[in-house]
Amino acid sequence: MRDLIEACAPLIYDSVTELGISEEDISNLIGPSTVGPMADVAIPCHSLSRILKKSPVDVSEQISIAIAPQLQGLALTSSMNGFVNLKAHPEWLANKTMGLLADKMIGVKKDESRKIVVDYSAPNVAKEMHVGHLRSTVIGDAIVRMLLFKGHEVIRENHIGDWGTPFGMLIEHLIDLGEDSFSSRKGISDFDQFYKEARVKFDQNDMFAERARSRVVLLQGEDSDTLRLWKVLVDVSTGYFNEVYEMLEVLLDDGDIMGESAYRHLLPTVVERLRESGMLEESEGASVVYLGGKWVNREGYPFPVIIRKGDGGFNYSTSDLACIIDRVERISCDELIYVVGTPQKQHFEMVFEVASRAGFMDERHTAKHINFGSVLDSKGQMLKSRAGQSVKLVDLLKESIKRADNAISEKNPGLTGKDKDRISKMIGIGAVKYADLSTDRTKDYVFDWDKMLSFEGNTAPYLQYSHARISRIFSLSPVSRKSLVNSSIEIFTEEEETLARCIVNFAESFDKSISSMHPHKLCTHIHATSSAFATFYEACPILKAENEEIMTSRLALCDLTARVISTGLELLGIQSPEMM
Ligand code: ARG
Repeated sequence: MRDLIEACAPLIYDSVTELGISEEDISNLIGPSTVGPMADVAIPCHSLSRILKKSPVDVSEQISIAIAPQLQGLALTSSMNGFVNLKAHPEWLANKTMGLLADKMIGVKKDESRKIVVDYSAPNVAKEMHVGHLRSTVIGDAIVRMLLFKGHEVIRENHIGDWGTPFGMLIEHLIDLGEDSFSSRKGISDFDQFYKEARVKFDQNDMFAERARSRVVLLQGEDSDTLRLWKVLVDVSTGYFNEVYEMLEVLLDDGDIMGESAYRHLLPTVVERLRESGMLEESEGASVVYLGGKWVNREGYPFPVIIRKGDGGFNYSTSDLACIIDRVERISCDELIYVVGTPQKQHFEMVFEVASRAGFMDERHTAKHINFGSVLDSKGQMLKSRAGQSVKLVDLLKESIKRADNAISEKNPGLTGKDKDRISKMIGIGAVKYADLSTDRTKDYVFDWDKMLSFEGNTAPYLQYSHARISRIFSLSPVSRKSLVNSSIEIFTEEEETLARCIVNFAESFDKSISSMHPHKLCTHIHATSSAFATFYEACPILKAENEEIMTSRLALCDLTARVISTGLELLGIQSPEMM
């Protein structure tokens, strides 16, 4: 209700001066109410009671009476327990909603554009993409869409794990298997298996381990045959990642791939610059940076950021430092966002600290780790497939679509053929994404098919169903949806009022969601809007309204509701079906 505060504040300042209260005294006190439907805005008067030497109850009563005439048509005032409560006037809500009819952004204002790199998804070559990568992909994609909506320039970067020592053993294993047999196995269906086989050989067979080590040297020396084999692994893997991205309908594509290998030429620069800045120290043959301060281990010894290992190899951190140089100097970005699981919290804190101290970025740049929790099964364990291996994402998504298809067969047997396939996909994929996005990302979440595919509660199918229901109203309506742009909205009932309040609050909820990078806040708002719509739909006849004005007014509310849902879902990367 920031718009209501904005509209009321100057009028409040005017009318309280005669009580001896200045703008300064009161401006910080006016804020959103926390008492639910009774009020939208509240002014706690406890600090004012000291100035006026009266009890908070008396002060709040006095203020309430003083401001009421000024706020006519804007807000209804009352006082309770030392608080002045303001509730949006139905007339103000009606005007506000009317103003949104022609606004494609539903009240959201664009920010001054910043250049923002969003690092997300980032699976590892020759390994199965796990549910953590699913979370990063889904949350990252929603954040990208929301930032674009706010008017920013967004650069997506998929920092895949495609470089480093494991590639020695992976390439040697590929040679042992023979490229043909590898490709015919289409590796991907058992990539985890492939990785494990290579690992076992590396651990148990000295000759193989030796070959693997020499292969790493060849790879780092950019030996052309080695690079070609490396590329085979990368291509098969990215082909598989793309399969997942296509199913998920995320924005990521091949052009966004900027794997660790992309920064390999910058790794010596990182070492050089850290040495020049005096930060690099030698420790047991390795080159490290000690940050000091809070970065100590349990025994109190300083905890190093290893830049270059004793064997000359570089670390994950070195790659991320090179990556910061690239993003700041080549891309000239203002902001760096990393959508990566909570276990990497310390990694990012340390990398950001090293980068700032070494001047790779400065106060003009913000770097944020957007962390997230794990995906758990119903027993509270990390989600695994029945065989105990990590879940294959393609299988998981296919299963969701199948389950959605079954649910539709039950709910709407009339829907068949291509339409049904299309809608099952929207629901199946939407359910998985929404289940992830609607829980606070910093918490773990329980993967529960029945809950995520339910048509009740805070789920994608519920929201999609509300949208389809409104589309159906329009298909039966004598008034075309387009013509509603200039229609007049009037609010008579409590149900209309609650719905209008949700519509008006969309922009504010969206802003809160993106500024904190917490997509669940947007989910909560779309869900509240859908629930308000369900109550409105029960109580207020639309096509059978008493007269045409009321019908048009209610249809206009329907239009806005559908747009809050479809725009909201689109910002989360979820589609809204016209029927289901
Ligand atoms: N590939 C890494 C993993 O699977 C995630 C990379 C995240 N991005 C980054 N710039 N470190 O854990």
